[in-house]
Amino acid sequence: MLYIGIDLGTSSTKLLLTDEKGEIRNVVSKEYGLSFPKPGWSEQDPADWYKAVMEGIPELICDVDAAEIAGIGLGGQMHGLVVLDEQDKVIRPAILWNDSRTQKQVDYLNEEIGKQKISEMTANIAFAGFTAPKLLWMREQEPELFAKIKKIMLPKDYINYVLTGVHCCDYSDASGILLLDVKNKCWSKEMLEICGLSEAQMPALYESYETVGTLLPEIAEKLGLPASVKVVAGAGDNAAAAVGTGTVGNGGCNISVGTSGTIFISAKDCRVDPYNALHAFAHADGGFHLMGVVLSAASCNKWLCEEILNNKDLAAEQKDITDEMLGRNDVFFLPYLMGERSPINDTNARGTLIGMTMATTRKDIVQAVMEGVAFAFRDSFEVVKALGIDIPRSAICGGGAKSSLWKKIIANVLNIPLDTVATEQGPGYGAAMLAMVACGEYASVEQCSKTLTKIKETVEPDAELAAKYEAKYQKFKKIYPSCKELFAQLNS
Ligand code: XUL
Repeated sequence: MLYIGIDLGTSSTKLLLTDEKGEIRNVVSKEYGLSFPKPGWSEQDPADWYKAVMEGIPELICDVDAAEIAGIGLGGQMHGLVVLDEQDKVIRPAILWNDSRTQKQVDYLNEEIGKQKISEMTANIAFAGFTAPKLLWMREQEPELFAKIKKIMLPKDYINYVLTGVHCCDYSDASGILLLDVKNKCWSKEMLEICGLSEAQMPALYESYETVGTLLPEIAEKLGLPASVKVVAGAGDNAAAAVGTGTVGNGGCNISVGTSGTIFISAKDCRVDPYNALHAFAHADGGFHLMGVVLSAASCNKWLCEEILNNKDLAAEQKDITDEMLGRNDVFFLPYLMGERSPINDTNARGTLIGMTMATTRKDIVQAVMEGVAFAFRDSFEVVKALGIDIPRSAICGGGAKSSLWKKIIANVLNIPLDTVATEQGPGYGAAMLAMVACGEYASVEQCSKTLTKIKETVEPDAELAAKYEAKYQKFKKIYPSCKELFAQLNS
């Protein structure tokens, strides 16, 4: 049988078609824009996602017999607030994961309610990108719209709703709302009350690999698919990407170098970092994970090349960065173009280039940006190590991981081998695996993911280079604390 995996991303929706052996039959991508109506705001129109999916699926399946398609799974950008009214109409543009308007609400939750209480209720503390602070912001700033909210959804759940008519959410994505009691996998009554919400406004909860329904007849007709096609609950994009790289069960690690960057550690049990610097979320395999988030990862490189250097050819900017140049750069970059999530949780932090002289070249700056993102991963990696978790190696995926230079830099900054899997298709591939499990092709997500992921290539760290990067990281670590107060003043 055939399966459709959909990655509902921030800059595009990527759709793939695979068989049950994981062989990719077709891939389609549909791009859309982001809107930044005010500094720090980041929004998208759910109608754009709908259009991307409704146009993408017919294109994806045009060369196959639609009767062979058994299931659809979605992995989606996390934390985005989608609100529906009584008629299930979208009330306002979605407020996305990289929106930082909610500092006041985050402070209210973390300082007034208190980090300890929030963490007891949800296993996490508030971060500006999370969904609950956005709801508090709406309650304060848009009370009329807030009063109209009948259902709260996350981006991929809105598409699942459009496809099946079911208001649903899976545990991995629901964890990032900050209204879920992650350990006990149920909505937190206390948190709902704090946010002025009721459980009736929340979607029904599912494991990622559970079927939520089949296609609505009118949608099936529009897509050219049988109405019997099953739709699974799916997962947040990071959990789906982890499934797609074999990061399931206990002790796996996946580093995703996408628009955002994440370092994702899978575990059977829910473990909470005492400082809540890392997110403690449910995983799509039925277990849990810890995750550090670099808000701007591949997007830093894209921004530098396209917006500043006026060159869309990112690879060309990297090609003259030689091995001899690695570990020797005196230019440093703080990649905080959208503020930063882990571990500093600071919406005021800003992108910063420091250390330039008249001898600094364009290549040094490109290199500094790539290294700055790698050092930001290292910041979260240090928190993981401080918890006593041993990460001997990691998978790596995402658009940024297509650059062998960037993989080499990250492997040496973290001083661990990085594995690339043979079918590197991001969250869509993991999401398709979830559909395979729901349709009975595999007994569990762990079995499916371990069977279908094969390591294609490993980048080993080099002892000498890792030592050079260790010294550079010790310098990098000093920059943010020196700028922290200044960032706050510059933004006041
Ligand atoms: C994770 C996060 C991002 C988005 C990107 O917490 O905010 O990685 O999921 O789509």
